[in-house]
Formats: sequence, C-alpha cells, structure tokens
Amino acid sequence: MDRRAFLGAAAVGTTAALATPSLASAAPAPTFAPHAVRRLLDAMGVASARGAADLFDPEGARWQGTAAEAAATAADEDFWEPIQRAFDLDRTWINLNNGGCSPAPTHVLAQMERDLRYSNLLPVIHMWRDLEPRIEVVRRELAREFGCDPEEMAITRNASEAMETLIFGVDLKPGDEVVVSTQNYGRMLNAWRQRVKRDGIVLREVSFPVPMTSPQALVDRFAAAITPRTRVMELPHITNLTGQILPMRELIAMARARHVLTFVDGAHAFAQFPFTRDELGVDFYGTSLHKWLLAPIGTGFLYVRQARIPEIWPLMAGNPGQEADIRKYEEIGTHPAANHNAIAVATAFHRSLGAARKAARLVHLRDRWAKRLLAEGQGRVQVRTPLDSPWGGGIGFFDVDGLNNEKLGNWLMGQFRVVQTPITHPEFRGIRVTPGLYTTLDEVDRFSELVLRAMKQGIA
Ligand SMILES: Cc1ncc(COP(=O)(O)O)c(C=O)c1O
Repeated sequence: MDRRAFLGAAAVGTTAALATPSLASAAPAPTFAPHAVRRLLDAMGVASARGAADLFDPEGARWQGTAAEAAATAADEDFWEPIQRAFDLDRTWINLNNGGCSPAPTHVLAQMERDLRYSNLLPVIHMWRDLEPRIEVVRRELAREFGCDPEEMAITRNASEAMETLIFGVDLKPGDEVVVSTQNYGRMLNAWRQRVKRDGIVLREVSFPVPMTSPQALVDRFAAAITPRTRVMELPHITNLTGQILPMRELIAMARARHVLTFVDGAHAFAQFPFTRDELGVDFYGTSLHKWLLAPIGTGFLYVRQARIPEIWPLMAGNPGQEADIRKYEEIGTHPAANHNAIAVATAFHRSLGAARKAARLVHLRDRWAKRLLAEGQGRVQVRTPLDSPWGGGIGFFDVDGLNNEKLGNWLMGQFRVVQTPITHPEFRGIRVTPGLYTTLDEVDRFSELVLRAMKQGIA
C-alpha cells in the first residue's frame, strides 16, 4: 500500500490500521492525529526527495534502508525539523535527560487523553469492555517489533515491573548464586538484595571498566564469576550510567552454556537502537517504553520465551489455568487502558521513522556535543561512552578535569535551564547527556558552549 494512502486513511480514522476485527468495538480505533501525520509525511517527503525510496512500508517490521542512508538522514535537518514539531514542549528549557523518561509526541498523548475521557464516561464498559481488549493489538505490534510471538509478550507499566517480575518470580534456594554487575540499575540491585536477606541467596557483583576494553574481556569477567551454584545472571543491555552497550548475545551464550538463565534489563535499549530477540538469543527481557519508544509514561514490556513462562511466577497471582499464559503477568488490578493502548500509536510512529534512522540521529546528536567537547576541551574532557563504535548509542557520559560534576550539573540547570544528569558512581563520576529526537542542533550547541564556558571561566 502507498504510504501516503495508508497514513492518510489512518489519520481520518477510516482504516482501523492497528485493530483486528475481533477487537472491533464501539470506540474508535487507535489513529494518528491528522496534524502529526502531516509532520511525518513532511519528513518522509524530504527523505524521498533525497532519493531514499520506499522508506515507509506499513507491512514491514522496520525501516529497510541502508546504513549509509541512515547516516545521511541523521544529518538532514529538513528531515528532523517536522519531527521536532511533533512534540509539544517547553523550549525555554533544554532537556538533555530523555533517558530518564521522554515526552511522548503530541499525537500519542492525544490518543491517551481521548481514551481516558472515553473511559471515564462509563469505565466498567468503556474501559474494561471496549478499551482493555485492545491490549492484544499492542501485544501483537510489540511482538512484531521485538521479533517474538505475541504469546511471549506481556505489557507492563515500566521496566522495573518487568524486571522485578523476573527477579522475584524465579525459584531460588538458599545458597543459589546470582551474578550482576556493579552498574546494574539500582532498583534491580535492591530487589536482589532483598532476596539475599529474605531467601538467603548469594549475590555476586562484578565490576567492569567503562568504556569496556573489549567484548571478549567483558564476557570473560562475567564467566569468571559463575560457579556451579550460579542460577541467574542479570545485566543491563545498555547501562543507564555511561551508555555502554554490553555484548549481550555473547554474554547470553556464555551463560547458557553453563546452564545459567540471563535476565536482560533493556530499559534503555528497546527502540533506541535496532535489534531483535533472535539477534540476542534472549529468553527474558524487560524494558520501559516511555524512554526511547516515546510511548506515554507508565508503559513497558516483559518478554519471556514461551517454554519458560511456567518457570517464572507473576508478581501478582494469576488465574487458575494461566500458568503457561503470558497474560498472567498482567493481572495487576484496575489500571488505565489508555496508557498501554497508546503504545500502539508510539510503535507506529517509531516504525515509520525507522529504528535505524532514529539510532543514527541519536548518535549524530551525541557526537555533536561529545566530539566538540573533546576537540575544544584542551585535554580536560573525558568521554566514557564508546564513540565510533557499535557499543555506544545516544546516551553520552563525560567528565571534566577540575570541575565537580554535581556542581556543573546544578550550574547548567539552575542558571541556564539545561537539564542533564550528574552521576556519581563508586567507580566513576560525570554527567550523562541524553538528547531526544526532538532536540535541535542549537540546543546541543548551547549545551556545549556552556560547558566550555564553565571550563574557561569556572562556575563560581
Ligand atoms: C537500566 C535501567 N533499568 C531500569 C530502569 C527503570 O525504569 P522504569 O523507571 O521505567 O521502571 C531504568 C530507569 O532509568 C534504567 O536505566
């Protein structure tokens, strides 16, 4: 189908582009808001005019362009300008903490608002009967994006819920060992530490240098921590600290050969850069969707390989007979259907932009500030994120010799309304910078100039 016809139909709601017949109901199907579709079409028109044909394929799981096309698009401001306008933002702030959670595009938010209002008219019918069953569409679309069967995809409220389902849901005996890294997300470490106290398991925390020295050296470190008592290894796909991407495929294969389960925390990975379940060979994966998929706040997913579902208990008890049903992880009580249904709109937006193009743009924005600070920083700037490497993405992390990271962060935010994330970890310190797809080059440059000014003049 021609992309203009497809999107045009979706915009006016004449095509239930994301609905299945069995889920049809009185409520209108999820659609793009017309003005947002125009923005997307503008961007696609720019891309086509540059000779990148057939960029949007509604039947395809992802954008099929080449790496060279992605790189060219990453630097094409005419392409990104309409995307920047797809968000309603307060541009008196420069938000370089989209890793924390990102604003959703206006049309994604609009769909959620519309469904919330519709729910509130008659929740027991509109929300439970009309809107809640549409979670099956979300399941199907996320499964397609991740490359798994919908029966392996649970919709959660965030990565924490997904990962804690795994952490608390796996049977472990006193003395069983779990391997994690010292750079795992704090909440997951807290969850494991609670199991240490409550269940007598043993937690082995492995540190590793950032940037990593080599994928093999990193795999070897974790292999060395595994003993005959090890049952689980839990690691981030990409750390929330310096943005180091871990060689997850190799780590999982290493652990599997030792009969160890690997739980992957992909809070920052899914929809930031393209990959599939089979490219990782993963059995257990949790992510947030309010970071890089640009879905509304309070959205995530848990993937569990089908044969493994009976092994992992849900956090809240499932119904009798649901032991092997992925939906047992969704028995969370009354909750808004609007939030998770809007994931379908965010997924369509993500797919239309193209995962590879998104990733290339985020790296382009990262390089713009990181390489400039390195070039003009007179040897005082250290960037711990791998640059010019497949092991780094849109998250960047730097430190300045002679400037306290917390004070620099407060100065940027307090005096200049530039939001970033000072991080002080026992093994390193610095500032994390995460532009979003809507971030302009002017905003990135303003940030770089302020850091360079602080270096020259101080931040008294
Ligand atoms: C690596 C990692 N895991 C998990 C989380 C938790 O995400 P959420 O708050 O969406 O549950 C985060 C949040 O930043 C994270 O960085």
